[in-house]
Amino acid sequence: MSKHILLGISGGIAAYKSCELVRLLKKQGHDVTVAMSRAAAEFVSPLTFQALSGNPVLSETHGGYSGNGMAHINLTRQADVFLIAPATANTIAKIANGIADNLLTNLAAARKCPLAVAPAMNVEMWFNPANRRNIAQLISDGITVFQPVYGEQACGETGIGRMPEAVELAELLPDLWTEKTLQGKKVLITAGATFEAIDPVRGITNLSSGQMGTALARACRAAGAEVTLIYGQLQTPLPFGLAYTEQAVSAQAMYETVHKHIGRQDVFISVAAVADYKVKNSSPQKLKKDGSGIPPVIKLAENPDILASVASLVNPPFCIGFAAESENVLEHARAKRLRKNIPMLVANDVSIAMGKATNQITIIDEKQEISLPETDKNQAAAAIVARLAEWVK
Ligand code: CTP
Repeated sequence: MSKHILLGISGGIAAYKSCELVRLLKKQGHDVTVAMSRAAAEFVSPLTFQALSGNPVLSETHGGYSGNGMAHINLTRQADVFLIAPATANTIAKIANGIADNLLTNLAAARKCPLAVAPAMNVEMWFNPANRRNIAQLISDGITVFQPVYGEQACGETGIGRMPEAVELAELLPDLWTEKTLQGKKVLITAGATFEAIDPVRGITNLSSGQMGTALARACRAAGAEVTLIYGQLQTPLPFGLAYTEQAVSAQAMYETVHKHIGRQDVFISVAAVADYKVKNSSPQKLKKDGSGIPPVIKLAENPDILASVASLVNPPFCIGFAAESENVLEHARAKRLRKNIPMLVANDVSIAMGKATNQITIIDEKQEISLPETDKNQAAAAIVARLAEWVK
């Protein structure tokens, strides 16, 4: 859904990251208007932001704003959300104390829309007691604070205080306007392909990219859930802002990792494409050709069924399975849901879904079947979360 985003830039070197942020938010389909402090315009030219956003930039140095004008009122009335990135210690201190003596702090004071800040500052400034108080004040005022990260700083020191990268802010910002239908729920998701070793360099795997599982992790996080993601091999980036992530490459490792965490969960979504069989005679050394021309024999043994094992726990979480089918998709999926004894199953045709950005799903539960047209995996994930929320509310 397209939103009007007001992006405030205060004076820090991290302002360069906000150029990329504007680009990413525009790519998501949003309308972005940039407002810059006097100091910010020293770091990056307002022209840069005008070119990237396609909208006039409001700044104290390049017109569009005069101290007694009404631009600050009008702009926040049009905005769905106001993000200040980077937010300096100075700007944060003013907002925490209701001071409105420049463009950005006036916008913050006059806004009706939600406000988020992405602090960027030196590590000592970040831990300074006054800044700690100010950050706590913002949070208690209902302002979202995108916590700075650890790393090398422009001043040459190393520590917490770097603004998150633009790609992270662009991913997390839309959570602000997503309905919190899974607030307080703990959700464990498996994603990606498992890998069963034949020897140290070869193995058996499948075409799953992990896009559906990671899209679901993002959708659950956006809906307010605390998400644990256990993943095999992924060909897609890990989501930001999850409660816990751990890689478990083989089916056996994934089984053990899931059972280590499942006791605390309200929901289990089994999206991983788990190998049904592992290599019984896997070799600790690389298999060599012995010159006889006779290929080595690979013996298989059955892997545990992770989903069925979770569903058969005494107090199971609400379980959702995925059925990857290549023919008679709905028939097989309905039978699979009953066989695994789970309340909900998502059917997909592997020829449409595997390794691709789109999917055509049918959500099957005991009350109804919801078939979606072929769609982006993020939209498919949102539909699954909407149906899940009806069951676990
Ligand atoms: N699954 C699992 N552990 C396994 C195999 C599958 O947890 N060892 C889960 C998958 O994550 C998915 C569901 O079971 O949610 C169905 O997986 P799928 O591969 O479609 O079916 P299988 O159970 O393997 O059955 P079949 O191979 O007969 O289609």
